Amino acid sequence: MERGAELTGRAPIILITGGAKGLGRAFAEELGRSGAVVVITGRDQTALLAARDELRAANIVADAVVADATDKAAASAVVEHVEGTFGSLDVLVNNAGLAGPVGPTWELDEGEWWEAMEVNLRGTMVMSSAALMYMVRRQNGRIINIVSHAGVYRWPYATAYSVSKAAVIKLTENLAAETRRLGVTVLSYHPGLVDIGITLAGAEKAAASGNPWEQRIASWIEGERAAGRLTPVAQATAVLRRLTEGAADHRSGEYITFEDELEQ
Ligand SMILES: NC(=O)c1ccc[n+]([C@@H]2O[C@H](COP(=O)([O-])OP(=O)(O)OC[C@H]3O[C@@H](n4cnc5c(N)ncnc54)[C@H](OP(=O)(O)O)[C@@H]3O)[C@@H](O)[C@H]2O)c1
Repeated sequence: MERGAELTGRAPIILITGGAKGLGRAFAEELGRSGAVVVITGRDQTALLAARDELRAANIVADAVVADATDKAAASAVVEHVEGTFGSLDVLVNNAGLAGPVGPTWELDEGEWWEAMEVNLRGTMVMSSAALMYMVRRQNGRIINIVSHAGVYRWPYATAYSVSKAAVIKLTENLAAETRRLGVTVLSYHPGLVDIGITLAGAEKAAASGNPWEQRIASWIEGERAAGRLTPVAQATAVLRRLTEGAADHRSGEYITFEDELEQ
């Protein structure tokens, strides 16, 4: 389905939360190399500016704005910045996320547990709301929420992550129903278990903390890596790019994975 940027032939404008590190950084590079203007956000200014400069060095039109995804005023300001600087926000990729605490749920600190809900769920809701103010008015836009298999299936000992991602998948379904006739697509996307970001950091964190539950997850990831079952970064980013281009607009509300065969 052709929309906005595709119809006019201009470069799509894509905002990626948490775009300076891990998967978000890889998404920014893939989308930028395919011709999109990419705007990345996060809380860590040093990492953001470094990522922005690296993207620009690769001839990508890139901008970076410090913004906490859970902060409504910051979310509105970043969307206004994109609209004011580049003309229109075509695609929002809600990628910012936290892994949350690991261990038997009843032994976890509820504040730490809730922080993952704040970033993963509230952050997605807050950023999406800021973007939808413009997208609905223009009757055009796409929102892609980065989720996980852990939100579809249980993930004992990582319940904040599992429950928050499940909530984002359900938020996606509801937002898609609300915006279906308003020209907006909302999808959730599971990129696979990718050897980057939280997956890559997991083993180091487990070794440093001595937490047996983190070590259990790290051993499982090691087994998946040894069996060649991790998703290549290139596959995770290529499917995301197809979603930003509209390849699954007809499936608004659905949970898409790195294994989905999307029409070219
Ligand atoms: N790696 C995997 O295998 C995998 C698999 C499935 C899903 N995912 C999902 O992919 C997304 C990216 O994860 P990752 O693996 O790349 O982890 P990561 O390297 O830890 O990246 C997380 C990103 O989120 C940002 N962030 C965290 N809290 C934020 C906040 N309050 N406001 C704005 N930005 C915030 C971080 O930037 P700052 O620190 O600068 O704020 C960072 O850029 C997450 O949603 C994760 O659940 C990852």
